[in-house]
Amino acid sequence: MTSRIAVITGAGQGMGRAIALRFAADGIKPVLVGRAESKLRAVADEVAALGVEASVHALDVTGDASVAELGDALDGATVDILINCAGDWLISLAQDTSNEQLDHILRVNLRAPYILSRTLLPNLRRSDNASIINIGSLVTANLVPTVTAYTASKAGLKGLTGSLAAELRPERIRVVMISPGPADTPMRAAASPGIDKTVLVGAETIADTVHHVVSLPRGITISDFTLYSMLWE
Ligand SMILES: NC(=O)c1ccc[n+]([C@@H]2O[C@H](COP(=O)([O-])OP(=O)(O)OC[C@H]3O[C@@H](n4cnc5c(N)ncnc54)[C@H](OP(=O)(O)O)[C@@H]3O)[C@@H](O)[C@H]2O)c1
Repeated sequence: MTSRIAVITGAGQGMGRAIALRFAADGIKPVLVGRAESKLRAVADEVAALGVEASVHALDVTGDASVAELGDALDGATVDILINCAGDWLISLAQDTSNEQLDHILRVNLRAPYILSRTLLPNLRRSDNASIINIGSLVTANLVPTVTAYTASKAGLKGLTGSLAAELRPERIRVVMISPGPADTPMRAAASPGIDKTVLVGAETIADTVHHVVSLPRGITISDFTLYSMLWE
């Protein structure tokens, strides 16, 4: 039996790394995508320790040329799963957010998943049980101040997910957004230094949940959902 293949963006740390390791534990081969090659290589070593070979593609998902190169590198290959996990975060009042900051957040959190999904669609169509999973955020359900650009990007991702899910439903390609609450990752450590970790959802819990969704039988999907610690206020 051939291994399933999963392209995971933001795989060098945090949720993306946890998803890569969870998939590898089930024999799914991760294609690790992120900016810092050294981090991706370290995750590839962890994946190898589980007996699975990962490939590494160090690139910025906001770059059209680099995403096109990834598509070329995978030309003709089957991709069973695309995890759009790479993301960036900005804490800033709307009045203080520059055009450049807004553009950056929209490019990485919204535009990149759109273009990656479109680029890898021929590969996903080769799978007999394909999934696109977009990592959203609880901020689109629980609206709060100081994260307007981030919230706008994830709300856009929600719209993209729903519309693409409808578009690909006839082909039985599931497209699902999973929206975590504050999670135990380097991003959260940077955003909320010293935060009490008991109020965070673990990256491994998110990875287990993502694995469950991509393991549903062909033709079965699940509605977009949030995933968070009940201790978070
Ligand atoms: N942590 C939370 O509390 C939380 C809550 C809800 C949702 N989320 C969402 O969950 C996802 C994963 O977050 P995380 O907490 O795991 O974040 P993280 O620890 O900061 O990891 C994010 C990864 O994305 C990669 N990345 C960022 N920008 C990129 C770009 N332009 N091109 C390629 N790779 C890029 C980073 O690569 P490098 O390491 O090479 O820079 C990093 O490995 C994000 O979409 C985030 O918005 C996070």
